[in-house]
Amino acid sequence: MKFGIVCVSDRCFAGACEDRSGPAIAECVRALSAENEYRLVPDEKEKIMQALCELADQCGADVVLTTGGTGFAPRDVTPEATKAVIEKEAPGIAEAIRAKSLEITPRAMLSRAVSGIRGKTLIINLPGSPKAVRECIDVVLPVLPHAVETLSGNTQSCGGNYGK
Ligand code: MTE
Repeated sequence: MKFGIVCVSDRCFAGACEDRSGPAIAECVRALSAENEYRLVPDEKEKIMQALCELADQCGADVVLTTGGTGFAPRDVTPEATKAVIEKEAPGIAEAIRAKSLEITPRAMLSRAVSGIRGKTLIINLPGSPKAVRECIDVVLPVLPHAVETLSGNTQSCGGNYGK
């Protein structure tokens, strides 16, 4: 499985701090992923959209995980950039992440993260902290192989498919 990892952070992009969440994602997906493509972009809608499209369309990533920019801060626009490039929403993923995260912290309701599909690529927003990234990836990791299999057109192993 090929992953794209996008760190969205003005501060990291400016070199004011180091991205620790991108590496946390890479570590979490290591068991599933032979290769990752990494992008670091500022909190700018166009730049985020460009990175997402490049990873989905040129790099052929199966899954793109973003970190950061999902909150209420004036420059947080990762969900808006994601919604602008996806063709189908996958709300169940964002709902599951938020539901599980709410068991850990009420602040989970402050993440506006979305998930969706562009072509054969699943894009999932994660919050910005390395701790939050680990908590959220744990929720989605078990379903990613089947999600990618389904996206590629193989629905053979879907339960309840009655041999279709
Ligand atoms: N989700 C989990 N699982 N764990 C967390 O610590 N932090 C929350 C929330 N989601 C958090 C979480 C906080 S404090 C914020 S402000 C929002 O994610 C948005 O984070 P972001 O702007 O860095 O994307």
